[in-house]
Amino acid sequence: MTDLNTLEADVLAQVAAAGDLSTLDAVRVAAVGKTGSISGLLKTLGAMSPEERKTQGAAINALRDKVQEAIAAKKAALEAAELDARLASETLDLSLPAPYRRKGSVHPTMQTMDEMISIFAEMGFAVAEGPDIEDDFHNFTALNFPEKHPAREMHDTFFFNPKESGERMLLRTHTSPVQVRTMVSQKPPIRIIAPGRTYRCDNDATHTPVFHQVEGLVIDKGIHMGHLKWTLETFLARFFETDAVTTQFRPHHFPFTEPSAEMDVQCDRSGGEIKIGQGTSWLEILGCGMVHPNVLRACGIDPDEYQGFAFGMGVDRLGMLKYGMPDLRDMWSSDVRWLSHYGFSAFAAPNPASGLS
Ligand code: DAH
Repeated sequence: MTDLNTLEADVLAQVAAAGDLSTLDAVRVAAVGKTGSISGLLKTLGAMSPEERKTQGAAINALRDKVQEAIAAKKAALEAAELDARLASETLDLSLPAPYRRKGSVHPTMQTMDEMISIFAEMGFAVAEGPDIEDDFHNFTALNFPEKHPAREMHDTFFFNPKESGERMLLRTHTSPVQVRTMVSQKPPIRIIAPGRTYRCDNDATHTPVFHQVEGLVIDKGIHMGHLKWTLETFLARFFETDAVTTQFRPHHFPFTEPSAEMDVQCDRSGGEIKIGQGTSWLEILGCGMVHPNVLRACGIDPDEYQGFAFGMGVDRLGMLKYGMPDLRDMWSSDVRWLSHYGFSAFAAPNPASGLS
């Protein structure tokens, strides 16, 4: 018993004395690791008489639990101290006057959005807008989403609490509802893009809960996939500032288009970074298709008279590709070092004539 008491006092003293996480971990390994002192004691139980094993087993297990608890508490304290130290050393006094070199800059997402708008504007598209807080009709029903479509579930969509009528408003999950708002309020021919914020319950290196899309919609007589392909290829070549891009349509499914496709651009991934317009790889870049007759009907347009195409692309994603930003989450961390590295001058408004970026 005395041995156990001595061991306990010894290990607990080492835990208390550990000044950083790596020392603490070394103490943990030496005591309760696979070949640690306490683990070693547990291995001696097999050679004991049943009586002895009962008392010694309980005592050694209690010692192990006590040591593990002490280590966990010390770890939490060391981590908290480390965080406090970081917070103290990285404070930024926002009340101080900004030094001259800290000029404000245009966020790369907004720069990308401006570039996209300026290219489409030159191609004859008007800009349309819609609310960020949408209803089920515009975000889903009018876009031909079946009643039980998984995108309606809480998993993807941020819903508000139901109103008294039972109706639940939501944060739009895409910019496609602006198509619906445009078609019910304007007569064809229609040629619009809808840039804006979109929201989904998703967060990793390539998804953030708030992101940006540019939607496109063209409705007229005799519109076909050829018009869609030309429009997108022309846009992409201008956006990536190359003479031409090679693209491919891959069949896909969207409820609001038929046929639907995803468009890939040819790219080269060999040198560690992605180069558009060369190479042997393909990169998915947007979704598109011919507007589904049910969508036209839901908006009061006769599908036998008018046809149209639509597309939707992620602005943040296109910006990441063009400007080589590896992690989408950095875009929202408000780190001034990141912003001054990737930001753009507020005076260099992009337009295709004087240059985009
Ligand atoms: N709304 C789609 C999304 O967010 C993107 C999209 C795909 C838009 C195809 C379209 C389209 O207009 O035709 O994933």
